[in-house]
Order: sequence, then C-alpha cells, then structure tokens
Amino acid sequence: MNAPIAIIGTGIAGLSAAQTLHAAGQEIQLFDKSRGSGGRMASKRSDIGNLDLGAQYFTARDRRFVEVVQQWQARGWAAEWTPSLYNSHDGQLGASPDEQVRWVGTPRMSAITRALLGALPVQFACRITEVFRGKQHWNLQDADGQSHGPFSHVIVATPAPQASALLAAAPKLAGAAASVIMEPTWAVALAFATPLDTPVEGCFVQDSPLDWLARERSKPGRDNPHDVWVLHASNSWSKQHLDLPKEAVIEQLYGAFAELIGCAVPSPSFTLAHRWLYARPAQAHQWGALADADLGLYACGDWCLSGRVEGAWLSGQDAARRLLEHLA
Ligand code: FAD
Ligand code: NAI
Repeated sequence: MNAPIAIIGTGIAGLSAAQTLHAAGQEIQLFDKSRGSGGRMASKRSDIGNLDLGAQYFTARDRRFVEVVQQWQARGWAAEWTPSLYNSHDGQLGASPDEQVRWVGTPRMSAITRALLGALPVQFACRITEVFRGKQHWNLQDADGQSHGPFSHVIVATPAPQASALLAAAPKLAGAAASVIMEPTWAVALAFATPLDTPVEGCFVQDSPLDWLARERSKPGRDNPHDVWVLHASNSWSKQHLDLPKEAVIEQLYGAFAELIGCAVPSPSFTLAHRWLYARPAQAHQWGALADADLGLYACGDWCLSGRVEGAWLSGQDAARRLLEHLA
C-alpha cells in the first residue's frame, strides 16, 4: 500500500490541495500547529463570541474560484456581503460604493475551512519543525520531538517564512520561500453595548494608523448582540509598533477609529487585540505553487500568488494538480 501524502497547514491553501487529492482517491494526513483549522481565515473565540480578526471578505476573479465559491454559497458556507462602503482619506470620510462582489464565510469566516476539512484526518497542536527524506519516504518531526511518517509526498502550506525551514531538503524551493517578505498586521476588535450612530459598515482608510475597518453585524449570519467593529492597522504602523503591548495597541487604534468615524464613540464594553506576524506578502508572485516533483516536495500558499484568499486557494489547487500529474 502507498504511504499517505502529508500536508502541513490547514489554511485555505492546504485545504484546497487536500480536497483535490482526497477527491482523486489519495490518502492524506494534515498537520497544524494551531488548535483549529483556517489559519488567517480562522475566527477567534472570545467572551463575546467568534470574531473574524483575519481575512475580512474575499473576492473571486478567477473563473475556477468563482465556480467553487458558488458551490460554497449553495451549501450555506459562504454568502455575499454588501456593506455600505466608505473611504477615509486625509481624515475625510466619504461614501465609496462600488460594484465589486464580496464574499464572507457564514455564520463566520472559519465556516469555510471547517467545512472543507470535514472528516479529513488531521493532527492539531502539532508544529512541524523538520521535513526529512529517508531512502524512499518522507518523515516529519514535530516540536515535541515526535516523528510522523512515512509519507510518499509532502505539501508545505504555511506562510513563506515558516515554509523555508521546512523546505530545506529542496534548496531551490527553500530559497524562493526565504525571498518572500511577509508584513505584519495588528487587528483590534471593539464591542459597543449601544450601536454607534453611523451608516459606515466597511471603510478603506488612508493616511492613518488604520487601513481598514468593518462592522461585524453588517455581515450575513452574524447574531452578536454587541455592535462589534474590527480594525486593521496599516502594515507600516504594525511594523513600527510590532512589540507594543496589546493594551497600548487597542488604545491607539481606538483613538484613530474615534477620530475618523464621525460620530460619538463611547468606551467599548469589550476589546481584543491580535498580532498577525505574517499577514501578507509584501508583493504578489506568479508562481502558482513550488514543486520538486522528483523529490515529492511541494509548497503552496497565498505568497505564491496574489496574497489573498483567492490566491491561496488557487495555489493549493496548483500544488495538488502538479502532484497528481507526476503520479499519473
Ligand atoms: P494560512 O491561512 O496562514 O495557513 C497556514 C497554516 O499553517 C496555519 O493554520 C498555521 O497554523 C499553519 N502552520 C504554520 N507553520 C506550521 C508548522 N510549522 N507546523 C504546522 N502548521 C503550521 N485576504 C483576502 O482575500 N481578503 C481580505 O480581506 C483579507 N484580509 C486579511 C486581513 C488580515 C489581518 C490577514 C492576516 C490576512 C488577510 N487576508 C485577506 C489574507 C488571507 O487571509 C490569506 O491570503 C489566506 O487566508 C492565506 O491562506 P494560506 O492557507 O496560504 O495560509
Ligand atoms: P477589493 O477589490 O475589495 O479591494 C482591493 C483594494 O482596492 C482595497 O484594498 C482598496 O484599497 C481598494 N478599494 C476597493 N474597493 C474600494 C472602494 N469601494 N473604495 C475605496 N477603495 C476601494 O478586494 P481584494 O482585491 O480581494 O482585496 C482584499 C482586501 O484584503 C484588500 O482590502 C486588502 O488590502 C486586504 N488584505 C489585507 C491583508 C492584511 O494583512 N491586512 C492581507 C491580504 C489582503
């Protein structure tokens, strides 16, 4: 019997590859260092419910992704989000409607990756530190010193800085991953007991510590009784304040929010901050996925393409396609 295929990372890229390989009859085994799936599309549990602190929405421009999102919609995992969009530039807040179709997971972002994972075999809370090849097969070592294997192939589906170490057996792939710079994002959630008196539901921000804000209750399927806002700091502000304590991050981003939103903003009844160290690649690539097909080692993730949910999903598809082609 053939050894299974190991996939490291249960973000949308790893799960996109997993789905395709599973559908093609391949045995797979997933690993993730977190306690749940989703990666940057995960939703964070909090005292006031689940909050989408990472990916806020996604667009679908590639025909293949458009088709799959329509399937997710039909299954109730995703729905269109049609917020009252604003733009804030030099402190001037103005309506900024457009025709772009935007999607979110329902009832929370993590619903999509959770559904894609389904009953596929996965080991959570398992940080892989080494990927090494024996005579015929691959083995993985985790941070607790346990080894896993044997595997016929390995797909590394983590952000680039974490992937480069895991790709050491294929120096070309490791070098490509190491060349990708990923930028951080500070995310803050603020909850208000009384809804804020503003029509804003989503806002692109320039010239501020913030670059994005969204009102959770405007997204389909959310039933949080609080008026919850998610704020994202710009990459440059996040980089400059990488080690600021969470309380200070909340205070500063709350201040920036209160200044730009244009209505009375009381003290929030709940706050939460989360630092995404590897939030997005500094630039997009056209790699699809990275592969050393003879070795049986592959890498995928948003950093191989557009740095967005769509790019991550397409990259997972590309890794799976290349692996299956080599098997044929
Ligand atoms: P990830 O989601 O990062 O998945 C990688 C997984 O690998 C993680 O689960 C991680 O725990 C695991 N892992 C890492 N190292 C190891 C290891 N050593 N061993 C085991 N497991 C490991 N995109 C959009 O399209 N629209 C948006 O509005 C948007 N907003 C964003 C806002 C923020 C704040 C952030 C952070 C991202 C945003 N993105 C957005 C980007 C989008 O979230 C990502 O492009 C996409 O989710 C990346 O998926 P991925 O599978 O490539 O990586
Ligand atoms: P999109 O087409 O809605 O947005 C792309 C960009 O166009 C926006 O960032 C914004 O600058 C501009 N824009 C779009 N509509 C606008 C409007 N109505 N008014 C003013 N400006 C508008 O979505 P796409 O291309 O799918 O991008 C996803 C979003 O995710 C982007 O906003 C991107 O910045 C964000 N993102 C954030 C990450 C982070 O780490 N914070 C990581 C990856 C993506």
